[in-house]
Amino acid sequence: MTSKNVSGLRIFLAGGAGVLGRRVIPLLVAAGHTVVATTRHAARTGPLRDLGATPALVDVLDAAALTEAVRESGAEVVMHQLTDLAGGDLAANAALRRDGTRNLVDAARAAGVRRIVAQSICWTYVPGAGPAREGELLDLGAPEPRRSTVAGVAALESAVAELPEWVVLRYGLLYGPGTWFEPRGLRAAEAREGKLVAGADVTSFVHVDDAAAAAVAALGWPAGHVNVCDDEPAAGLDWAPAFCRAVGAPAPPVSGAPANPAARGADNRHARRDLGWTPAYPSWREGFPALASDRDIPDTGYFGTISNGRVEHYRGGHDESIPVRGKAR
Ligand SMILES: NC(=O)c1ccc[n+]([C@@H]2O[C@H](COP(=O)([O-])OP(=O)(O)OC[C@H]3O[C@@H](n4cnc5c(N)ncnc54)[C@H](OP(=O)(O)O)[C@@H]3O)[C@@H](O)[C@H]2O)c1
Repeated sequence: MTSKNVSGLRIFLAGGAGVLGRRVIPLLVAAGHTVVATTRHAARTGPLRDLGATPALVDVLDAAALTEAVRESGAEVVMHQLTDLAGGDLAANAALRRDGTRNLVDAARAAGVRRIVAQSICWTYVPGAGPAREGELLDLGAPEPRRSTVAGVAALESAVAELPEWVVLRYGLLYGPGTWFEPRGLRAAEAREGKLVAGADVTSFVHVDDAAAAAVAALGWPAGHVNVCDDEPAAGLDWAPAFCRAVGAPAPPVSGAPANPAARGADNRHARRDLGWTPAYPSWREGFPALASDRDIPDTGYFGTISNGRVEHYRGGHDESIPVRGKAR
């Protein structure tokens, strides 16, 4: 199995203003690609331009507007970095995975796009011993609310596979600037309130910079599913105390009992050995302490400071602008 370096592509990036999208744009531009990036917020179009992308103001749930936007972009590749997690609504996120991906794949096909790279997650495998490999099944028979999450992931992944060339990136839990796992993030706030419990469930993490690098590399990867997570799936009993230290929270309360029998982490050998993806943070053991250096950086808003086409010091969740509904303007 081989991966190749590619350059000079025209890319339609759905979800350009999200935590991964805004990290990916400067990398794509630096690699010689041209990027058209979506947002529903007029206030986010300026920062997208500053990052080097041409903004497309469109809601992916508006199929007609999306079809027009993809065709107008002249894209050769679609990159799917859509989630609906800013409000923490998992049902809305599952619906976006199902309906938004359907629209995106239909729009890509209508525009003659052959290749898609899509964001998925690595914690929807069937229960089993040890970290999951890509060939294992998704946990479609899980009880709710997990069942809806798995169904959303399955719908996304099967729609994406309708294009001739597709790569599904099954990411670990994101941490780093702009995510829930950083000093100003949701989980750090919970940790400071004593609500982040160190339990037996096993999680695979990935730093947001390593996740973004994988998305760019995947433009040259062969079709398939790829676990994009670090080398060390770990129980909360191990990682939660390290995270609390990094974000300046007291030691977490401990519970030895597993809360989710399907929690098992994922195996990244395919990405590392077959595809040559090399994370800068091979483990959360190195990545969490790096978060500590962000603790004293002032909050500079949703996009942070954009300097020389790169986002610096950004923080998620501080954009109060109203999304467009319906047709793109
Ligand atoms: N694997 C993981 O662990 C993982 C993955 C993703 C996110 N997260 C967590 O979720 C938190 C929130 O993520 P986020 O900041 O990326 O925000 P988000 O609300 O999940 O949005 C992500 C992207 O999807 C786009 N989007 C959502 N609904 C859309 C629609 N109907 N039409 C067009 N675009 C749409 C957003 O565009 P707009 O600009 O229009 O809003 C944005 O670009 C992060 O802090 C992160 O920790 C975790």
